[in-house]
Amino acid sequence: MSALRLGVNVDHVATVRNARGGAAPDPVRAALLAIEAGADGITAHLREDRRHIHDEDMKRLRAAIGKPLNFEMAATESMLDIALRIRPHACCLVPEKRTERTTEGGLDVVGGFRALKPFVAELGKAGIRVSMFIEPSSEALKASADLGAPVVELHTGAWCDALAHRDRPKADYEFGRLRVAAAQTAGLGLECHAGHGLDYDSARIVSGLPQIVELNIGHFLVGEAIFVGLAETVKRMRAAMDEGRAGAGTPR
Ligand code: PXP
Repeated sequence: MSALRLGVNVDHVATVRNARGGAAPDPVRAALLAIEAGADGITAHLREDRRHIHDEDMKRLRAAIGKPLNFEMAATESMLDIALRIRPHACCLVPEKRTERTTEGGLDVVGGFRALKPFVAELGKAGIRVSMFIEPSSEALKASADLGAPVVELHTGAWCDALAHRDRPKADYEFGRLRVAAAQTAGLGLECHAGHGLDYDSARIVSGLPQIVELNIGHFLVGEAIFVGLAETVKRMRAAMDEGRAGAGTPR
């Protein structure tokens, strides 16, 4: 079974920093600490409204971290220019609405197929690994493969919301969609990642899906860090993921 990587998303370190407009807390410092504690990579989302991560943060992250940087971005010309200048290890294409609090759903890879195609091609040509942040559906998986993206990140938000609301039937239904989608990735030649809304418990469970090789987690880690520190939080998350992976394949 493949190893499971943890990508730590540092967006919300920048959210706290921006609340006061100064330099602290520094997302680059958080990234370095997370790596020291066991993170396999760092994720950051440069939103069009720059509400958390700023352009300078992305440059500094690229220069400072010795591990892969996963640049989350909307498929726009200006973001493409920035990504091609920064040349991160990976770019994750996400949908973006200014009014949303967070990335609410997956990318419309079916409806947006023609518009997305040149972005996947340009980034790929630059040697950047492209990932599509999608809902766990076979249509979205197939369209991502047809776009030539090597990676998909399955949106775990709907499942995590159902768990948080203790809506067991919905949680089971959503987890079933994740399980089926993850199983389909191999046949389509896609590397499978997952993320959004994960905490220790949900990360442990989803780590049991053997096709998933990377989880990207942010908000929960930054929140927990207030109570136990970022290094400890990353270590506990790593342990939860390892525990889930060790039991992979056992029915829930
Ligand atoms: N993956 C993607 C593509 C995202 O957009 C986000 C949120 O920025 C995450 C993972 C992390 O989600 P969360 O902050 O809820 O852990």
